[in-house]
Amino acid sequence: MKIIAINGSPRKNWNTATLLQKALDGADSQNAETEMFHLYELKYRGCVSCFGCKRKDGDHTCALQDDLTPVLEKLKNADAIIFGSPIYFMSVTSGMSSFLERFLYPYIKYDLECPSLFSKKMLTGFIYTMGSTEEWIEPFKANLNHFDRFLEMVFGEKTMSLYSYNTYQYSDYNKYESSMFNEKEKAKCRKEQFPLDCQSAFDLGATLTKNVK
Ligand SMILES: Cc1cc2nc3c(=O)[nH]c(=O)nc-3n(C[C@H](O)[C@H](O)[C@H](O)COP(=O)(O)O)c2cc1C
Repeated sequence: MKIIAINGSPRKNWNTATLLQKALDGADSQNAETEMFHLYELKYRGCVSCFGCKRKDGDHTCALQDDLTPVLEKLKNADAIIFGSPIYFMSVTSGMSSFLERFLYPYIKYDLECPSLFSKKMLTGFIYTMGSTEEWIEPFKANLNHFDRFLEMVFGEKTMSLYSYNTYQYSDYNKYESSMFNEKEKAKCRKEQFPLDCQSAFDLGATLTKNVK
């Protein structure tokens, strides 16, 4: 069984990547084979609207050829996928958004009765990390995860979501302008809440793997 994680943070070792790795550890605890791709290591663009994937005489794959091409190929054979993205300007990062355009659009068929060309049902998870507190982000929460409904449409299963709030952004707050944050609160959250989020990410990975049919 193969579980793949997609890291949409430019940082390979920070909040999002850490939680994704915990989710893969959870998958590994259920004997899955795991792999993580860091999108910001790859050179690729978002969809360029060539509609190659929509041609009647085509194979419904993305016509662009770049570093994303082999990743998209591998994802076809995944048993579950766990996406992770920091929240930038109340949405996923541009890297994640461009990736999702390229990944999801070829599977979307303009057919109300059968809108997905993906060959099977597949479980997905989405881990969101953000600097804001849960309370502060609440009014904007519906913006954050609008891709979830397209994942559900393409893969036929509800996405399991995990939100990690009030993340620690810098290794040393003294070096950066950040007076709007309470650094002590942030450090407390990093010490007390982030380990709980890591446990939730582990559980998400384990549950997703257990539920793969
Ligand atoms: C360009 C940029 C925009 C951001 N916008 C938001 C935002 O709209 N809301 C928020 O809560 N945090 C925002 N953040 C903070 C990040 O979401 C947060 O630090 C996240 O945990 C970083 O993930 P990482 O540690 O995996 O890189 C932003 C950070 C950057 C760099």
